[in-house]
Amino acid sequence: MFPIRRNRRLRTNEAIRSLVRETIISPNDFLVPLFVVEGKGVKEEIASMPNYYRYSLDLLKAEIKTLWSLGLKSVLLFVKIDDALKDNKGTEALNSNGLMQRAIKVVKDVCPDMLVMTDVALDPFSSYGHDGIVEDGRVINDATAEVLAEMSISHAEAGADFVAPSDMMDGRIIGIREGLDQSNFLDVGIMSYSAKYASAFYGPFRDALDSAPVDMVDVPKDKKTYQMDVANRDEAIRETEMDISEGADIVMVKPGLCYLDIVRDVRNSFDIPIAVYQVSGEYAMLKAAAEKGWLDHDAVMLEQVTSIKRAGADIIASYFAKDVVKLIS
Ligand code: PBG
Repeated sequence: MFPIRRNRRLRTNEAIRSLVRETIISPNDFLVPLFVVEGKGVKEEIASMPNYYRYSLDLLKAEIKTLWSLGLKSVLLFVKIDDALKDNKGTEALNSNGLMQRAIKVVKDVCPDMLVMTDVALDPFSSYGHDGIVEDGRVINDATAEVLAEMSISHAEAGADFVAPSDMMDGRIIGIREGLDQSNFLDVGIMSYSAKYASAFYGPFRDALDSAPVDMVDVPKDKKTYQMDVANRDEAIRETEMDISEGADIVMVKPGLCYLDIVRDVRNSFDIPIAVYQVSGEYAMLKAAAEKGWLDHDAVMLEQVTSIKRAGADIIASYFAKDVVKLIS
């Protein structure tokens, strides 16, 4: 009359639950995105990302030390560039004394063992806010990929461990790999944003870097000609396969929570480390709901990152990294 098997036995108390728990979150899971700006003594909160900041290089040092002391050993660097330095071709991105190049050196200086990954894309440097060069109303592929390869070499020269192309041009991974190899950066890795969707969740990030596409004639209004259609699933496998065949060491699915089906598909299809980017809009959404008292911030945050890992992520790029690690330590 009653069941022989009772699944609830394994849920009786925290001791048995922790014994059979399948997914454990630790500091080793996280890659910490960091926003860097010019100046001295700057720590500015990003309006749409409460409790997340842009740091000038001097204050970045302390933040790096804090992260390391919390057991967070990898960072992903982004830079906010003055408008005056932006152009269509991302010229400033190749400046060997540019903000990114100096930021890499600062991190390596204060913490040589910190793994430094760098964002490789034109948008923070583009006067049009695009991830590529704009010509005749289109974002052109091959010339952009060439700049991305040069940008990657420049980051490697400054000391980056990994470059992370977030642009979605075709063929950029092989271009970057060949560029790095020819410059003898054989050990510099590539984390490819391979299944990156044309998501509406990137808004706060574009505030953080002032990198939204501009509203001008002959400039595409959005990134839908290079980022993936939100509605597509099989295409993510094709994109990922291509990046792996071109030499990606780590692949990525982005955003996170709405795309966990893709994460699991990629996990089941390829034997390669997978990163998932829990993006700015996901962060902002929880912060806003918690501020209103509508969600329990810490509980939801932990549930979210656990779900991302459970879906198949090896690496979670998340603005919550510090909060999570403080909570679980
Ligand atoms: C652009 C880039 C974006 C993000 C990382 N790199 C935004 C975009 O594609 O417009 C978004 C990250 C986030 O929202 O947290 N190369």
